Amino acid sequence: MKKRIGILTGGGDCPGLNPAIRGCVYAGEKLGYEFIGFKDGWKGIVDGIYEPLNKEKTEYIIMQGGTILGTSRTNPFKKEENVKKVLENFKNLNLHALVAIGGEDTLGVATRLYEEYKLNVVGVPKTMDNDLNATDYTFGFDTSVTRAMDAANALIDTGRSHRRVMVFEVMGRHAGWVALFTAIASAADYVCVPERKIDGDDMVEKIKKAYERKKFALVVVSEAVEIAQEEKNPLKQEVDQFGHIILKERGMGEKIAKYIESKTGIETRHAVIGHMQRGGQPTLFDRILATRVGIKAAQLVHEGDFGKMAALKGNDVVGVPLKDATGELKTVSEEWFKLTEILF
Ligand code: F6P
Repeated sequence: MKKRIGILTGGGDCPGLNPAIRGCVYAGEKLGYEFIGFKDGWKGIVDGIYEPLNKEKTEYIIMQGGTILGTSRTNPFKKEENVKKVLENFKNLNLHALVAIGGEDTLGVATRLYEEYKLNVVGVPKTMDNDLNATDYTFGFDTSVTRAMDAANALIDTGRSHRRVMVFEVMGRHAGWVALFTAIASAADYVCVPERKIDGDDMVEKIKKAYERKKFALVVVSEAVEIAQEEKNPLKQEVDQFGHIILKERGMGEKIAKYIESKTGIETRHAVIGHMQRGGQPTLFDRILATRVGIKAAQLVHEGDFGKMAALKGNDVVGVPLKDATGELKTVSEEWFKLTEILF
């Protein structure tokens, strides 16, 4: 009888999940394993909802955004009985190993299942936010930023035509990578990232200068930013099952646009890309990276190297301890802030 591997995708979806599933199935089948895919993240293994996966089912998903397995932000550790159900289903479904594809939260659960229950778990990192430690890049990031970059280019066209300041809000949660890369790649005039409170005076001065020169300006804003000069600008406190603040209604792009207009008197508009930057076909980079980490996950299972995550280090894909990837976010570093001083 073939040994069986379960796969799940958890947390926010991003382009590259399907190529990662495919890479894992392709490699695993060659190594003699069979696969099942759990539906909707950890919810699928808690409730025992799954479907068989094989090469035929995954052959043409390399170009599809989202995840064929579905996803959710379910945290089994929220209820002790759910952890029990995960362990029972793992046993009852005769699993040899579980491959968890996800970001900080999903891999945090995988880490605990490995550390506390010695479950045969291997992780695959994904997130459009690129905020995961122990890997140089996560798939999903390249596609999302490429999409945001294209949108920013379009905003420049309309902003330039109307002689306006355009403020563009992107996702990225509490790390500024998405905003920073979008801003660099689209020749923005200013970037606001959550790692540092926005110095409103500095922003206004730089935008005025840019506007004087070319009669329009582009500002890229990360969704979780705060303006230092604002008296109180508390983050909304609604949280998900992992305790993360839900950012969707903060409207920082709009707030910053109003702030700029009120301080400069220049007509200003804002746009929010939202979930559009998370869907659609993965870029070449994400298809290849996702395929490679998916393949590596199957190899780690085969080698019995559990509690590891398939990580990109330089040009290599290697196994690193899952616990090194979770616990602390990878945020924009000093080195990058030095670059921003040159570019903005
Ligand atoms: O973590 C990925 C991400 O897209 C963040 O950038 C964003 O804040 C969040 O997910 C949005 O989550 P949801 O899809 O649950 O609204």
